[in-house]
Amino acid sequence: MASELPSFTPSAFELSQSPNPSFKFGQKVEATAEGRKWLEGEKEGWKVIEAGAEDPRKLYALMISGVTPRPVAFVSSISADGIENLGLFSWFNMVSAYPPVVSISVTAIPRVKDTALNIRATKEFTVNVISTPWIDNANACSIDAPNEVTEWPLSGLTKAPSLHVKPPRVKESAFSMECELFQDIDIKHPDTGASTQVLILGLVKTIHVRNDMLTERGTLDPDKFQPVGRLGDILYSTLGKGYRIARPAWSDEKETVIELNKL
Ligand SMILES: Cc1cc2nc3c(=O)[nH]c(=O)nc-3n(C[C@H](O)[C@H](O)[C@H](O)COP(=O)(O)O)c2cc1C
Repeated sequence: MASELPSFTPSAFELSQSPNPSFKFGQKVEATAEGRKWLEGEKEGWKVIEAGAEDPRKLYALMISGVTPRPVAFVSSISADGIENLGLFSWFNMVSAYPPVVSISVTAIPRVKDTALNIRATKEFTVNVISTPWIDNANACSIDAPNEVTEWPLSGLTKAPSLHVKPPRVKESAFSMECELFQDIDIKHPDTGASTQVLILGLVKTIHVRNDMLTERGTLDPDKFQPVGRLGDILYSTLGKGYRIARPAWSDEKETVIELNKL
């Protein structure tokens, strides 16, 4: 029961060193205590699941807990009849920065969800990234309401006008993108040919980012932004700790890599 859990306490996003700051190319995971602890679990072996033969509900539960953490898109769209819609989508990501393109994947069984119907009909939507202080407001919009119902009033969130598209953005979001439909792709099941999912690619036309989140480098400060992560089941997560790990450069590491390739 949720009421038996401790109440939510906001925690700062803290920077630390990476888990193994003295890592050298070729070093084994067992070189650190944490790595050895991790490898202990291998004693239990692996369960192998043939995805095509698995019960789709089990596959869904397994995959959404394995492909984690996911960002969550809060999508505002408008139907051809003018009904405003808000929906959450964690099958969401950035696809490209040049041109700026994002993806959301909308389930089409037993029926195509309103968000995909609306985007196909009107070609426009906004994607609003959700922050922890108002996740409960956003989550309310995952209600399976009939398509004549708008989720805005139950969310308690505020409509802010978009500049170039008709669907409003969510004022409480610190990072919103106005999008035009770039491409929509029916995901068809290879066995049945039935369309089960709609992959929407959105071309980002305008970005609204809250000034108080912005760093001098033109990026969002994760401690202030508090973006929500989606795990499996109905689990959400906060950010916790962060660390930087430099990208290795071929020019610095060439000799070591060539040596390791000889082994
Ligand atoms: C955190 C979260 C993430 C979700 N992600 C997706 C998703 O990626 N794709 C999807 O089809 N439904 C997803 N859902 C379910 C939709 O939000 C839900 O079906 C919603 O009612 C869809 O709205 P619509 O029918 O108005 O488009 C998610 C729900 C939650 C709470």
